[in-house]
Amino acid sequence: MKQKKQLRVGMIGYGFMGKTHSNAFTLAPKFFDSEYQPVLQTLSARNRENAEEFAAKWGYKNVETDWRKVVSSPDIDVVDICVPNNLHAEIAIAAAEAGKMVLTEKPLAIDVAEGEKMVAAVKKAGVPNMTWYNYRRIPAVTLAKQIIDSGKLGKIFHLRAQFLQDWTMSADLPQGGAGTWRLDVDAAGSGVTGDLLAHCIDTAMWWNGPITRVCARTETFIKERKHVESGKTQPVGIDDACVFLCDFENGSLGNFESTRYARGHKAKYFIEINGEHASIAWDLHDLQRLEYFDHRDESIVRGWRSIHVTDGDQPYMGHWWVPGLLIGYEHSFTHQVADFLESLSSGKPVGPTFEDALQTQKVCEAVIESGRDRAWKDTGAGKMI
Ligand SMILES: NC(=O)c1ccc[n+]([C@@H]2O[C@H](COP(=O)([O-])OP(=O)(O)OC[C@H]3O[C@@H](n4cnc5c(N)ncnc54)[C@H](O)[C@@H]3O)[C@@H](O)[C@H]2O)c1
Repeated sequence: MKQKKQLRVGMIGYGFMGKTHSNAFTLAPKFFDSEYQPVLQTLSARNRENAEEFAAKWGYKNVETDWRKVVSSPDIDVVDICVPNNLHAEIAIAAAEAGKMVLTEKPLAIDVAEGEKMVAAVKKAGVPNMTWYNYRRIPAVTLAKQIIDSGKLGKIFHLRAQFLQDWTMSADLPQGGAGTWRLDVDAAGSGVTGDLLAHCIDTAMWWNGPITRVCARTETFIKERKHVESGKTQPVGIDDACVFLCDFENGSLGNFESTRYARGHKAKYFIEINGEHASIAWDLHDLQRLEYFDHRDESIVRGWRSIHVTDGDQPYMGHWWVPGLLIGYEHSFTHQVADFLESLSSGKPVGPTFEDALQTQKVCEAVIESGRDRAWKDTGAGKMI
């Protein structure tokens, strides 16, 4: 058997995303052919004991408590950043300067200024880079992109998206620290806009092109929370909820909504696009299905059809079981690794690159500014690959 090229991974962080990515690097080469073999080389985390336990479970060869040693290590090819948002830029820039390929979790950075520095760093170093907007690679979402690109929908009029949760409604929940770093503006950059709407914006612009202008209403329902690190009650700087209207470059209109105060919703991600001939809708709670309506169907059978995206000729599914059998959330990350490995062989960048994620960051920042100033804002966002 031909010897594969090793892709030695330096993983920074071992929380929720550290786990999904470790799983993806493990599974991708078993289900997708590649000339590359990911190797779980080093896990970096501040607490050695916890890191050693995680490393043993997932099969990392080494543990390192200082991420700087990972990005400069000669035995690492790709640095994968799975830590809170305020750490992405420093680690990614150091990794690019050390000549490593860089993958980072979303959002790209804490703000556009940091994101621009990250894009400049990977361009200067000429290193492959990618941001984990994983929902693109749920087969139904990828199929929607293919249908939209085929022109079946005709002229696009509307796109609407929602990402709803309910986990921060208690005033007793602190800000800062494990898990609740998302409530601390210094660690997260923003609230639901960067955490949840960023996913919707990435999918929306990938499907429907750039968002050019936004008008937002943001709200922080609980104004003060205890900070885990200082122990003091401090103002809350993140948006708990955000709704915004927007213009797309192609003339269509968008409306987006996200909150962590929609009682009963845990991760309700819904997105719908309406064209002159047809519409598509997708819901994360039923992720294997794509809802499709085509007005050109014969009138007596016309109606929304629910496409069970499990067939071998639908995106990614030929690599899994047999038609009709399901895959899940975690496979979106596996597909992203598979596509990244393929891009290393082909030499063609794979989206979302850092530059693509910067376009989403621009929209997020314009949304936050619009909410603050109560005014329409231009985003400056361009096309994605
Ligand atoms: N793609 C997605 O769907 C998705 C889902 C969740 C989170 N995310 C993103 O992934 C990133 C991580 O989120 P998470 O949910 O895994 O968070 P988490 O809280 O579960 O894990 C964060 C990890 O970072 C480590 N960490 C924190 N501060 C650190 C520091 N100063 N130095 C080194 N390590 C540090 C923690 O120990 C932990 O291992 C965030 O950018 C988040 O926005 C993306």
